[in-house]
Amino acid sequence: MISFLGLGHMGAPMARRLVAAGHKVTVWNRTPREVEGAVGAASPAEAVAEAELVITMLSDPAAVRRVLADAAPGLRSGALVVEMSTIGPEAVAELRDRLPSQVGLVDAPVLGSVQPAREGTLTVLAGGLPEDLARCREVLEVFGRVREAGGPGAGAALKLAVMSALVPAQVLLAETVAYGEATGVNTAALLDVLGETPLGTLVERLRPAVENGPSETRYALGLAAKDLALASHGTQTLAAAARDRLQEAAGAGLGGEDLTAVFGHVATARRTGVPKLNPASVPATNGYYSHATRAGGLLFVSGQVALDEAGQVVGEGDMRRQSEYVMELLARILADQGCTFDDVTHIRTHLTDMSRVSEYGSVRSRYFTGAPPASTTVEVSRLFRPGLLLEVEVIAAMPAGR
Ligand SMILES: NC(=O)c1ccc[n+]([C@@H]2O[C@H](COP(=O)([O-])OP(=O)(O)OC[C@H]3O[C@@H](n4cnc5c(N)ncnc54)[C@H](OP(=O)(O)O)[C@@H]3O)[C@@H](O)[C@H]2O)c1
Repeated sequence: MISFLGLGHMGAPMARRLVAAGHKVTVWNRTPREVEGAVGAASPAEAVAEAELVITMLSDPAAVRRVLADAAPGLRSGALVVEMSTIGPEAVAELRDRLPSQVGLVDAPVLGSVQPAREGTLTVLAGGLPEDLARCREVLEVFGRVREAGGPGAGAALKLAVMSALVPAQVLLAETVAYGEATGVNTAALLDVLGETPLGTLVERLRPAVENGPSETRYALGLAAKDLALASHGTQTLAAAARDRLQEAAGAGLGGEDLTAVFGHVATARRTGVPKLNPASVPATNGYYSHATRAGGLLFVSGQVALDEAGQVVGEGDMRRQSEYVMELLARILADQGCTFDDVTHIRTHLTDMSRVSEYGSVRSRYFTGAPPASTTVEVSRLFRPGLLLEVEVIAAMPAGR
């Protein structure tokens, strides 16, 4: 029996292929979802209880870690876990350490998107011990062509290496077409001519987004950003530049859109001439605003509040802690654009209780050590989340050459 965990864009059609190939399949998904002909399970542990083979097709390393931890109590001794998400070799090694030694592990991420997943024409890049690879090869062939990449982690490493070329190439094309459009190049002609080059396949993938706007999500922009975050180690590579571009688009609320939506993002920024900035070094916005924008040599930083990655208030009731947290966020956003607090020309502070201004002031003076900027401090009746004591925004002058 095969257990399939994760029924997203890729997982659902892959599970269906297993059923169609005559396998007995049990499925589980965090958001309950059915696959005709498969047995649904209420939890990962229940799903894997009878399984010789456990396949995971989840979004990222954290999801795989979480789901396999939940599955662990149900895993049979001698079962084989086949991890098919894109999570990279480090996460695969970590999984190996966490799984019981009597449970085998193969990393088998795939190349190809939703249509090849439906048709069974994916390329499966498999890494693992020879005996484990031999045990799952026939099942993996249901998904497409299996390429054995080497020992444990080799499939995951190969997949990341491929993505670090493919995704930046797609981002580059989106930028090329957006900039071409903005500078008067005939877009249809540009797409046609590029389509006849070796980049043709990626051009055809992009074309619907250029001609008709956002298209159906096949490979989410947020997942592409995740893949490049896993793949790009250095900060100076083209892959890292593409990763930053995608993180910026994800920060602008496009994470769930198809990767090709990056075209619309670039085109809008180009048209308005106002880069929308969402550095990965601070918690993402809710998608309704950007952390900062740049125009006319100035950097406008949105009001920052003491909310963490999970949207929880940091330092409930503690003005000093919230002030420190907010100043750290401002420092990171400024640093992302090559600025420091010395470059701040104006600071505006909103406090819910002006009687506590000295607590805020003592923290702020640790960050603004030079001549102070122009400043406005006002009391407001409330901020957008209960428990927030202050919100601080700044405007900075970009250093020459940035
Ligand atoms: N789409 C492609 O073209 C493509 C191609 C090759 C490889 N990949 C890779 O394959 C993997 C799956 O891609 P996809 O496009 O199928 O992604 P997807 O549609 O976003 O599906 C993600 C799956 O992960 C689950 N999940 C996310 N966080 C979770 C958590 N914390 N706990 C439990 N379940 C969680 C989701 O459950 P819910 O339904 O409850 O959200 C869903 O089942 C990713 O690693 C991706 O990079 C994608």
